Amino acid sequence: MAKFVGIYNNKGGVGKTTVTLFLADFLSSITIRGKKSRVLVIDFDSQSSCANAILGLERVTELKREGKTLSGMLKSMINNKRYNLYKRREKRE
Ligand SMILES: Nc1ncnc2c1ncn2[C@@H]1O[C@H](COP(=O)(O)OP(=O)(O)OP(=O)(O)O)[C@@H](O)[C@H]1O
Ligand SMILES: [Mg+2]
Repeated sequence: MAKFVGIYNNKGGVGKTTVTLFLADFLSSITIRGKKSRVLVIDFDSQSSCANAILGLERVTELKREGKTLSGMLKSMINNKRYNLYKRREKRE
């Protein structure tokens, strides 16, 4: 079962990114109830420090150029959802 951990603080420079990266690294290295854990880090920070650290600055720059950011993904999900709902309704008729 998935567990969600949010790391947030209004204050800057207090270690949010550092804690996130080390916690993600630790959690991804352990086995829970016989299952190797898997970790997904979602970087909501527009500075994309976590993404830069995990994927590398070059790849992140490339993804930003292609519009493959969190906001881009959410916009696309919203559009696709509308599209899918329309399609499903069409199928039922
Ligand atoms: N436990 C710690 N002990 C000492 N220094 C630390 C510790 N955790 C983080 N730092 C250092 O503090 C600085 C700020 O850390 P970090 O970038 O993780 O903070 P942040 O809250 O993500 O900052 P921002 O608000 O800019 O995103 C970095 O230089 C980091 O190396
Ligand atoms: Mg940060």
